[in-house]
Amino acid sequence: MAHQPEDIHEEQIHFAKVIATFRNYAQYSLAANNRRRKDVYTLPQADQEVLEKLGYKQKLDDVDKAILINADFLSKIAENPEIFGHDVNLDEENLQNGNVERVNSHEHHAGTPHRHSHPHSHDHGHQHGHSTHRKRYKPTDFDMDKLRSTLKQFVRDWSVEGVVERNSCYKPMKDALLQHFVHVPPEERTRLRVLVPGAGLGRLAYDVASLGFTCQGNEFSHYMLLASYFILNKTTEIGAHKFYPYVHSFSNIPSRQAMLQEVSIPDVLPSVLPPGSNFSLVAGDFEEIYGSESDPDEPQSGQWDAVLTCFFIDTAKNIVNYLRIIHRILAPGGVWINLGCFCRSCL
Ligand SMILES: C[S@@+](CC[C@H](N)C(=O)[O-])C[C@H]1O[C@@H](n2cnc3c(N)ncnc32)[C@H](O)[C@@H]1O
Repeated sequence: MAHQPEDIHEEQIHFAKVIATFRNYAQYSLAANNRRRKDVYTLPQADQEVLEKLGYKQKLDDVDKAILINADFLSKIAENPEIFGHDVNLDEENLQNGNVERVNSHEHHAGTPHRHSHPHSHDHGHQHGHSTHRKRYKPTDFDMDKLRSTLKQFVRDWSVEGVVERNSCYKPMKDALLQHFVHVPPEERTRLRVLVPGAGLGRLAYDVASLGFTCQGNEFSHYMLLASYFILNKTTEIGAHKFYPYVHSFSNIPSRQAMLQEVSIPDVLPSVLPPGSNFSLVAGDFEEIYGSESDPDEPQSGQWDAVLTCFFIDTAKNIVNYLRIIHRILAPGGVWINLGCFCRSCL
């Protein structure tokens, strides 16, 4: 589908804000923890001493350390944003509407044209400008919330700790898929094409590819795309990355130990797939990509043997259109397998 220049520009700005959120995580989170510290100093001395004896200040120090480890992990994810082909260097002109603060910058970015590497992205060369007075985006609480959710999503999709949750949602879907194609021998599964829209961090799609099916995940959130790209393509060891997903809130947590729980990912090596397997993640809006036949090289109608939707259907603005697209892209004898809200009361 041809994209209007203003759409491309808007997407670039959005992507730059996501990258800014990753890069501002430490500053934002340490500041939040520091506010707790300052609150302690407002208490009567005797009460401060009680808290000291209970180890509250130590807890704040431990949270600081955990935040710095998280920041290190997140900075690795956002290290090479150019793989997505967007300009992440916002200048004043680009930031009319954002929540911004003014900073002086003497950075110079050489003019380098970027290209998207994935099939449904926009193709645009862009010259970076040289600005000595640049506004820098200040991420909002909403942005940071998305980033913190990405960390928690990593636990569910790629850690040992997430296995119970994965077994309760991904396993029944995989079982249903295997059951539907029980007549196809495992070595022939690669001819069956499975689509996972709203793939999140990609674990369900990866698991389906591990079973030998040709599998394509589709996702449009830049948080999810950056994080899944990193885990799937930049990870060479099981347990290579450590982080602390629960350190951001002091509420609704059973104990200090639970709050400071360290999690390692991944629990499997994402690069290990059966020989000849075919696994891809496509960036972009489900309705745009699969709802039209604009790309003659990639027909969609009747091309998918299975569509697996996990907590995706309720993201629709128009649920009827989602169903229409799924119906249209399924091949004869194909199957739609859904888990997650799709009940009368949700419609
Ligand atoms: C509730 S999450 C579920 C993610 C994953 N399926 C899981 O179970 O962990 C819904 C996902 O769908 C993605 N999504 C929502 N609308 C989309 C669309 N129109 N096109 C592609 N992805 C979309 C969101 O970014 C989000 O990652």
